[in-house]
Amino acid sequence: MDFKSYIAEAISKVTNIDKKEIKSYVEIPKDETNGDFAFPCFRLAKELKQAPVNIANNIKDNIEIDSNIISKVDVVNGFLNFYIANECLAKETIQKFDAQKEDYGKSNIGEGKTVIVEYSSPNIAKPFHIGHLKTTIIGNSLYKLYKFLGYNTIGINHLGDYGTQFAKLIEGYKRWGNEYDFSTDPIDKLADIYKRINALCEDDEKVLEECRETFKKFEDGDPYCIELWNKFKELSLIEFNKIYDLLGVKFDSYKGEASYANQRQEIVSILEKTGKVTESQGAKIVDLEDVGISTPCIIQKANGASIYATRDLAAIMYRAKTYDYDKCLYVVGEEQSLYLKQVFAVAKYLGLDEKYTNGLEHVSYGMIRLPEGKMSSRKGNFFKVQDLLDEAISKSKEIIQDRDIEDKDLVAKQVGVGAVIFEDLAESRTKNQVFDLKEALNFNGETGPYIQYMTVRTNSVIEKAGYIPSSNSLNLSKITDRSSIKLLKLIDNFENILLDAMHKNEPSIISRYLIDVAQAFSTFYNENKILSEDKEEQDVRIYITYMTKIVLTNGLHLLGIEVPKKM
Ligand code: ARG
Repeated sequence: MDFKSYIAEAISKVTNIDKKEIKSYVEIPKDETNGDFAFPCFRLAKELKQAPVNIANNIKDNIEIDSNIISKVDVVNGFLNFYIANECLAKETIQKFDAQKEDYGKSNIGEGKTVIVEYSSPNIAKPFHIGHLKTTIIGNSLYKLYKFLGYNTIGINHLGDYGTQFAKLIEGYKRWGNEYDFSTDPIDKLADIYKRINALCEDDEKVLEECRETFKKFEDGDPYCIELWNKFKELSLIEFNKIYDLLGVKFDSYKGEASYANQRQEIVSILEKTGKVTESQGAKIVDLEDVGISTPCIIQKANGASIYATRDLAAIMYRAKTYDYDKCLYVVGEEQSLYLKQVFAVAKYLGLDEKYTNGLEHVSYGMIRLPEGKMSSRKGNFFKVQDLLDEAISKSKEIIQDRDIEDKDLVAKQVGVGAVIFEDLAESRTKNQVFDLKEALNFNGETGPYIQYMTVRTNSVIEKAGYIPSSNSLNLSKITDRSSIKLLKLIDNFENILLDAMHKNEPSIISRYLIDVAQAFSTFYNENKILSEDKEEQDVRIYITYMTKIVLTNGLHLLGIEVPKKM
């Protein structure tokens, strides 16, 4: 049952104010002692020309409400506080849960709609940095969430595999490639070559000119250049895939920038026909002043070369045609905000159906860095995300070392990686973050391992009981304690949480919710003997534990975190 609607309807009858408006004001009080739902009467003060307290008293006196649904209504400081009847809450929640069981929370609201999630998108021959880790983790979670809600979901890794730097790398590789053993840390070595050739270019104008010519050849599809570029790409992907494997991240497509490079003329000519293109110092630009963006978007350099924006525009055309998407999300750092605004604005001139350009959305995230001095990059060597993951895994292994666990390596991996993932999703994505591994691995903190631990505990309770009672045999009047009610309310709210997280593209809504559920379960577990002498009491408690297990497991899955068998 939608309690909010029920309450809104009853208030609407007394006040004659539209139910929808009322419903939008109904809130869930932070402090439980203020009831399960609250209505702030000051919201109606202007409309009804009365003081909030009077409005509250008037509603309280005249409201018609079924006491089997709402057991109590209180007036506190101009608020109306509503208390849901325990049995009703339990019945509603269990019925809803029982219809889905292991699939609890899944829905088909996305049926018939397609969402593209573009995420990760590292640059070939350059290190996969901590910012790339963040887009990978956020994007993976959104990908799973949309799928869970029934959308046709496409995950794209828009690889940064194009640009003048590859010409330099080719020139460098020609000179010093045979000095390196690429079977280990290939990206470090490519980065080293890149540094050397850059230094040489600075000293020697002739070398720079050679690089320019090589880029021209590369653009024209010279086989030797393409062969080397493929090699760089292959070496880089070996390293990226190691990280993706550890994180359990998959993509439906790795179509990167290079595949759009030869559409530059097509894009430029479409845009020229709109009359929006002007020239500036030999480059072609689209002025965006009239749509409120003061910096124009460059679509072609003075030397005629394709650039980042043109390749993104070509990608939009391709995605519209290939996937007929309803939404296309770009999980990209906030530093590219202006850039993406420009691209989305220029996309409106490509002659695409409005559906496609309206569906473009930047899912931005804040800066992320490591604490001062920690694992900082050694000179000439970049900080590696792989090292961070390895460190998380080995620290987890230390923690579980003395526990009675069969496959410690597997569990250490699940816990270490889970800790890193959760830490990246713990707070609102737009916040800047200092990544603290020690904090992330605190088994008693608001962390991934804490939630994993509570999930494992739900499992062991059920295992110990040896059965899950059937939901229609439960005696719901046995649910009387506050911690059970709190858990039920949270479980009841799972669906809303998922929808909210999807509408805001904000996985942290799920992660914070899971902390609440895990903490509520911990209290429930400490305050109640689950395996009790009273069989009816035991049955309801086991069932609540079972529902908690599914909510935690499904929630963790949506963040991209695995549940260990034991911890
Ligand atoms: N490769 C870029 C980088 O690492 C991110 C790509 C973002 N996506 C896009 N469609 N431009 O900075």
